[in-house]
Amino acid sequence: MATQTKFISLKTKIPGPKSQAVLERLDRATPRAVSVYAPVVIDYAHGSLLTDIDGNTFIDLTGGVGVLNVGHTHDRVKAALHEQVDRFLHTDFTVVPYESYVRLAERLNAHFPGGGPATTAFFNSGAEAVENAIKIARAYTKRKGILAFERAFHGRTLMAMTLTSKVHPYKAGMGPYAPEVYRAPYPYPYRCEYAGGDPHHECNERCYAAIEKALMLQVAPEDLAAVIVEPVQGEGGFVVPPKSFLPWLREFTDKYGILLIVDEVQTGFGRTGTFFATEQAGIRPDLLAMAKSIADGVPLSGVMGRPEVMDGPEDSQIGGTYVGNPLATAAGNAVLDVFEEENLLEQAKRQGEHLMARLTAMQKKHPVIGEVRGLGAMVAIELVKDPVTKEPAAAETDKALHRLIEQGVLLLKSGIYGNVMRFLAPLNTPLDMLDEALDILDKTLEEVRG
Ligand SMILES: Cc1ncc(COP(=O)(O)O)c(C=O)c1O
Repeated sequence: MATQTKFISLKTKIPGPKSQAVLERLDRATPRAVSVYAPVVIDYAHGSLLTDIDGNTFIDLTGGVGVLNVGHTHDRVKAALHEQVDRFLHTDFTVVPYESYVRLAERLNAHFPGGGPATTAFFNSGAEAVENAIKIARAYTKRKGILAFERAFHGRTLMAMTLTSKVHPYKAGMGPYAPEVYRAPYPYPYRCEYAGGDPHHECNERCYAAIEKALMLQVAPEDLAAVIVEPVQGEGGFVVPPKSFLPWLREFTDKYGILLIVDEVQTGFGRTGTFFATEQAGIRPDLLAMAKSIADGVPLSGVMGRPEVMDGPEDSQIGGTYVGNPLATAAGNAVLDVFEEENLLEQAKRQGEHLMARLTAMQKKHPVIGEVRGLGAMVAIELVKDPVTKEPAAAETDKALHRLIEQGVLLLKSGIYGNVMRFLAPLNTPLDMLDEALDILDKTLEEVRG
């Protein structure tokens, strides 16, 4: 099934026979919760292209769910890993430390939104970073309460899952959850519940009042240790709040001595056009959780924060055997080199503008695109059955994504209704490669409408 494309190369129907055979084994060898999205088994990948074991090459716009902002197997990262493999693999940093951990902390601290000083501790996953940010906040404030938002996603460990608000599939039947977690609305301009019928209402003041009211009904602000917030909601549907949201939240938290934790696990590392999204709000958080694109796929996460807050926990109260593993910190330093050498923040802005322009043009042709939105290269389209009622088009989204895979494009969805297509391509994806994928999307949306 040869195609006329420059980057995509399909040699078999998708899935090909070799992938199919592994997927059948996967079904028998792993539990159903480990379900896979793309029915293709990878052989190798580089940049934004991924080749399966049947020899089919795909344009990968998933970035391993936002982990590959510098692209698959970046040469710099590979070289750093090879070098580290030959030197040592593990000590436990708190038993015998190594310089690459310290260097990575120093370099990341220089990116603390709103300016330093800051210190950083490393962990393994986004959820672990979130868990530790909460521990640090509680230790520092000596308070217990945590406020999280509707549609938030913070991970799948006990505290992270409690903070997460998407019930299906993450929470159903998984309780009891951690105590002292409270919930408030997060502004969603496209589906603003607080507009009161006013189509020009900008979804801010009334939403902020609703946040204050939610607290009034649940917990005294002076009992809250922290508010945890995604600067742009990721799994929740790439929801970009009004510009005034984070500054308002900073003011609100300051008023009651509450810490502000920004969860930059998905928004960080250039995704939104600045190193961290919080920079664009012009505020200084107290703590910042990071993971995903920090180390190009090697498991690593971190919590960065004001030094006095980070020093809330006492000796050994945070940590873990593998945290800040030397392979991961070597990869993390290489990722930062790539940001500097390839001017990735500029590339992120360019990618974002390109996506917004092409998708906005598509929206004029395809009424199924209810909204095109984004910040930097964190861009999404929300699909609806009808642009007036905004009824979510979840089945159409699934169908289109499935058809995209069959044509060689890997793209993910998100959102509580499962109707948001989100772009998480490596930031250095060539624009003509992006165009090849977008042309196929354009054609596919036509098909779905038909
Ligand atoms: C904002 C946010 N926080 C936390 C997490 C959890 O990260 P991990 O899957 O590495 O535990 C995610 C994962 O998607 C995320 O998007």
